[in-house]
Amino acid sequence: MVIEPPRSVTQPNDQALRARARRVIPGGMYGHMTAGPIVPPSYPQFWDHVDGPYGWDVDGTRHIDLLCGFGPMVLGYRNPVVESAAAAQAAYGDTMTGPSARMVELAELLTDTIAHADWSMFAKNGTDATATAVRIARAATGKTKLLKATPAYHGANDWFTPMLSGVAPGDRANIDYFDYNDSASLEAKVAEHSGDIAAIILTPFQHDSRKPQELVDPEFARAARTLTTGEGAALILDEVRTGIRLDLRGAWETIGVRPDLTAYSKAIANGHPIAAVVGIDALKEAASSIYVTGSFWYSAVPMAAAKATIEHALAIDAPTRIASAGELLKRGIEEQGAHLGAQISGPLQMPYLSFADDPELTVAMAFTDSAIRHGVLMHPWHTMFLSTAHTEDVIDDVLRRTARAFDEIAVLKN
Ligand SMILES: Cc1ncc(COP(=O)(O)O)c(C=O)c1O
Repeated sequence: MVIEPPRSVTQPNDQALRARARRVIPGGMYGHMTAGPIVPPSYPQFWDHVDGPYGWDVDGTRHIDLLCGFGPMVLGYRNPVVESAAAAQAAYGDTMTGPSARMVELAELLTDTIAHADWSMFAKNGTDATATAVRIARAATGKTKLLKATPAYHGANDWFTPMLSGVAPGDRANIDYFDYNDSASLEAKVAEHSGDIAAIILTPFQHDSRKPQELVDPEFARAARTLTTGEGAALILDEVRTGIRLDLRGAWETIGVRPDLTAYSKAIANGHPIAAVVGIDALKEAASSIYVTGSFWYSAVPMAAAKATIEHALAIDAPTRIASAGELLKRGIEEQGAHLGAQISGPLQMPYLSFADDPELTVAMAFTDSAIRHGVLMHPWHTMFLSTAHTEDVIDDVLRRTARAFDEIAVLKN
């Protein structure tokens, strides 16, 4: 296989679009997809098209994409099974005056698939799903406080966004914070707010950016379960980032901890816009008492895509396949970068790359920059995401390129 030489950082089409965007889009771009100065200079802002594990930027360069749209793509971009289901539905209609039968079929599929799910509601984004779950918990308990880990991200609305610009202090008044995997800090917060806790919200593992990822300590998950039950509060699992990739039955099934409510989005329709909240029977009445809605929440195409995604992911055991790719990647990168203390943390399906003694991410930035110029789209401080399109051959190709990137930064360091 021929590997093309590293491309230069100059990307004329991308630069031209950035300049035009700065005139008509605040900041030129916003949110988690901002390329800007915080990621390596080679990181493209604008994309042209995608296919399987690949994305082509607006300058025509092909990247092996280890970000998968920051999670939504799990079965390969433009997966034929999913796209034909979406196209078949699109031929009938998408946004109509009410939902299609796909809504009921999808709710049935989710309740059959997810161990604790007795019902489902749908929305568009992960933020809708976490906000809806919290509202259900408050409606069910009549209590107000929400306990969350510091600084866990659960969405971009006023009470979760990590940037405080434009946020009124009152918007945070009913939230308090504990440390992930620290049962004592959670117990202390529960004791402090006892009698007024609506919910504890947790992600299946600690995936804060800019630091190695921590898998959940099963004792901590069990403590969260026991404490919420004891308080009559709801345990919300935020699977927006992990859903489909780790375990279709629920990320904590393997450790035997079942939440009361779970929020999904990102991968559940392999890139089509949809979110879901699933919950237990005891919360069904509260869920039907709240008013949540959106113009596009009932659109039929993403629901058809979600059905196809979940059915196909179950049929091919997507999490196991993706974990095998992750194992190969982890082994390869850690071997190639051993001299720099390269470490891949987090679940195998969602690798996070870090280097020893790299508090300012200098090595991570240099390596990622080089990897991107060698055709592998990586991120220096965010979880990456693998898919079933990242086959053994694709990961071998990734590793041939990262070997060159490690060589290149060794030269730069000398
Ligand atoms: C754990 C988690 N929860 C919630 C969200 C919010 O999802 P969305 O961006 O679709 O609103 C995200 C997004 O990255 C997330 O990672």
